[in-house]
Amino acid sequence: MTSVFDLDLPVLKTDELDRLEALEEANSVAAESWIARTDLGVAVLHQADVAAILRDRRFHSALSRIREMNGVEGPESEFFASRRPSILSMEGDEHTRLRRLVSPAFTPAAADRHRPAMRRVISDLLEPHLAAGRIELVAEVCEPYPIPIICEVLGAPAEDWRLFSEWATGIFKIFNGNLSEDYPAIEAASRSLADYIAALVEQRRGTPGDDLLSDLITMESEGDRLDTSELCMLAEAVLMAGTDTTRNQLGCLMAVLATRPDRWAELRADRSLIPRAIEESLRYLGAVRLTVRVAAEDVEYRGVTFPEGTFISAHLAAANRDPAVFEDPNELDFHSSRPVEQMTFGSGIHRCLGAALARAELQTSLEVLLERFATVELAGPVTWKPPSFGIWGPSSLPLAFTVA
Ligand code: HEM
Repeated sequence: MTSVFDLDLPVLKTDELDRLEALEEANSVAAESWIARTDLGVAVLHQADVAAILRDRRFHSALSRIREMNGVEGPESEFFASRRPSILSMEGDEHTRLRRLVSPAFTPAAADRHRPAMRRVISDLLEPHLAAGRIELVAEVCEPYPIPIICEVLGAPAEDWRLFSEWATGIFKIFNGNLSEDYPAIEAASRSLADYIAALVEQRRGTPGDDLLSDLITMESEGDRLDTSELCMLAEAVLMAGTDTTRNQLGCLMAVLATRPDRWAELRADRSLIPRAIEESLRYLGAVRLTVRVAAEDVEYRGVTFPEGTFISAHLAAANRDPAVFEDPNELDFHSSRPVEQMTFGSGIHRCLGAALARAELQTSLEVLLERFATVELAGPVTWKPPSFGIWGPSSLPLAFTVA
């Protein structure tokens, strides 16, 4: 069988393009081919293939290979070697067991408990800027918004949000492409968070609260429970997977709506459109544009072989504009009766565990923004993070608004 590397494939550029160019490039390559070559390996671009690759257990999450992807050699530090692998990079029975145990703690009802706190956080962030009628939304709202919510969700005291923010910054260095240098900072942040969560777990075992950590402590399936190191790993996964994603998605949402006064007026007139608007904005401009898999064995798919070790990007953003699935994929449509099968939360066994929480956070923030801003528009150019960033959105979003 032909190896994927013997095919004459179009090349998907990832560097030196701005946000819109990168999206257009992916869409135009997708119009001619279901698969393209990238710096790392290959990328699949159509929704059916993206879903198939993410649901195929012969492809594993590439997070387990992050050291290799960053060209880091040598043995892992004792600390990281002794730790539980993250749910994000685990595979097989181990991953299935964990998802079975923890999924009941991540339902829409569990997320809805925190809507009052979400409303409070976003209102407090907006309040000081209302009189001015102007705000740089990324620095003032998007960046700080998710961390106090993760504290609340985990059941940590609200005043500890600064600690969580520091640890998140440290742990996120894992994605900066400079792993050799950043390792000590990543390890220090990860260790401090684990110590903090271990102490909180002890406390919650004695006095359970109405929070995720307490729920996870009591989760049980056929006599099986999570131990403290698994609870620490999950808390770190929630902090890592649930903060930068949400803040960038909120930035993407508002960058789009600030250029669409018609859509803003429509949402203000009919708030029942909010859940639909959030789904459509996740499709239209998602903060996670792709996720990478690695072939765990030689895999045959669509008549070609992906040799063991091949890195394959599932291009969520291209799948989200697939004309075979979406009529008028480049239109932002809050009304269409078509099912919204947006891919920004991924698919398959690693599909976003926090999707209900993310939806609640995005819906609540949009509700509050619609209540406060009668009109909103760009007050200057939007600047975007480089397209090479795994989790991506505006780096600055200056807005002018009239108060409702
Ligand atoms: C708009 C915000 C969010 C987006 C776009 C997003 C996107 C994603 C995507 C694409 C994946 C799959 C990654 C892969 O297949 O390699 C994922 C996994 C995950 N997400 Fe989210 N996420 C968001 C918010 C959250 C929140 C708020 C949480 C907090 C609980 C969270 C927790 C997780 C976890 C724990 C996983 C790993 C699941 C597993 O590997 O089994 N995410 N997310």
